[in-house]
Amino acid sequence: MTRFAHPLIVLCMATFEKNSVSALSKAQNLEALILFGDDTKKILSKITDRSLAEAIRTPLTMDFKGRYRECLLVYTEEKPAIKTTKRIILVGTGKSAKLTNHHWRTLASTAVHYLKNLGITKNIGLLLPSPKGQKTSEIAMASAQGQSLGQIGFDLFKTERKEEEKARFETIRFQFLVSDAKELRGAQDGVARGSLIGEDVNWARRLILLPGGDLYPDVLVQKVQEMVAKSPAKTKIRAEYWTEKELRKHSFGGLLGVGQGSTHRPRFIILEYFQGKRGEPPIVLVGKGITFDSGGLSLKPPASQETMKYDMAGSASVLSAFKIITDLGIKCNVVALVPTAENMPSGTAIRPGDVLRMASGKTVEVLNTDAEGRLILADGLHYATTHYKPKAVIDVATLTGACALAVGEAAAGVFTNNKKLLSALMTTSEKVQENLWPLPDFDDYYVPLLKSEIADLKNIGTREAGASTASIFLRNFISNNTPWAHLDIAGCGWYDAGRDFIASKGPSGIPIRLLAQFIEDFNQQSFS
Ligand code: BES
Ligand code: ZN
Ligand code: ZN
Repeated sequence: MTRFAHPLIVLCMATFEKNSVSALSKAQNLEALILFGDDTKKILSKITDRSLAEAIRTPLTMDFKGRYRECLLVYTEEKPAIKTTKRIILVGTGKSAKLTNHHWRTLASTAVHYLKNLGITKNIGLLLPSPKGQKTSEIAMASAQGQSLGQIGFDLFKTERKEEEKARFETIRFQFLVSDAKELRGAQDGVARGSLIGEDVNWARRLILLPGGDLYPDVLVQKVQEMVAKSPAKTKIRAEYWTEKELRKHSFGGLLGVGQGSTHRPRFIILEYFQGKRGEPPIVLVGKGITFDSGGLSLKPPASQETMKYDMAGSASVLSAFKIITDLGIKCNVVALVPTAENMPSGTAIRPGDVLRMASGKTVEVLNTDAEGRLILADGLHYATTHYKPKAVIDVATLTGACALAVGEAAAGVFTNNKKLLSALMTTSEKVQENLWPLPDFDDYYVPLLKSEIADLKNIGTREAGASTASIFLRNFISNNTPWAHLDIAGCGWYDAGRDFIASKGPSGIPIRLLAQFIEDFNQQSFS
């Protein structure tokens, strides 16, 4: 492959990648047109074209039930009057009064899969519905998100694909259509925003899918450098990539300690974007970037190691949220910090019983090398709360199996030292429909569990309340009483099977939309 593509080719690719939005009356010769119908068999868009309305009359009275996620294929070719499309796909919505963005995301994703299974990937129209009381721009945004989030498969490394499976690996870009030209503007805005967010979430999901052998700290750094270089905001982003030299200079004992067992050396990524009001304190995001967690000398059993390439999902989430904010050009002050390391057993690895001196100066007795996330986050959180004077710090981490046991895939466990921040996060959680669930921090019970006989702290408590003791450990590294929230995504970050608009097993992309929306909505709010 040549390094520099011809400018025209780049331009064509750009236009190909982009979703188009137009009036239904302008659509011609589609391979398929997607229409949504509810459980009363009502089509949720105005169809003024008589022949189109005629084509779906029989399927609506005969086989279509309008059940949520039902798909029915209707051929229109034998009716020469229809120039718009060769096929119509009726997609059921269930009760139309109860539809939220979550449903629209899921329905668009459902259509993507139905079409891929049919082998149709090009020239597809999706008529945006306009049910009562719902905004076209919102439906357009959610549908565009569902289109992107519904595409990604996890069999990226297959070399042999059956002919009938090939379509599954192609990307579907809908031609979004509106019945009424008045809706065009809202639809365009919604589709642009939804595709941007969907693609940025997929950027993170692709990183998470990369095996530990392919994505280690240096590669993560490289991916971030490429992301920044391609960013429309690249001149406004300030980036630093620390190697061990800087880590030593800043006494990042936690990150250096966890990284010392691997041939892939630890790194620290700093991304700053200060486009908000001058002097407005930033929101700082910190993400756990363990590119593979073997457990270290406290080695995990093989089955538990299988998915541990995903132990950098927290870092991918904060990087992707940063990407969304900068791609959208939101006026705000935001920082993303990523301590990244590989947790390996070796002759140079930290041992159970070793004592680390952290960036804050506190000492930690490492009794279990598998509780490594909190060690690298401790340095990140110390840096976040001392170097910046942040209005809030949010860390995201696949931190504890205990959190996954407590809430499963349903939610991220949330801990915080600040009620206003919690309430803002809960509001955002409802808005974007990514669940958060507050978990307890009973100091009287949990703080004593982290006492060490020889150092300031030890890195594990008891087996019980594992998510809570992990959070209390982190709290020791929050300086200046900075408003802080910790999101444990061990359960919700990875789906064991496809669900809703996430079509296959693998990274869910949670809580990226939540973080980006939170920054967009609350970057000027004070929590103290
Ligand atoms: N990365 C794991 C947590 C994890 C487990 C994430 C399962 C996703 C699914 C973390 O580093 C870890 O191993 N935590 C230990 C802590 C324990 C040793 C105190 C755990 O949860 O077992
Ligand atoms: Zn671990
Ligand atoms: Zn881990």
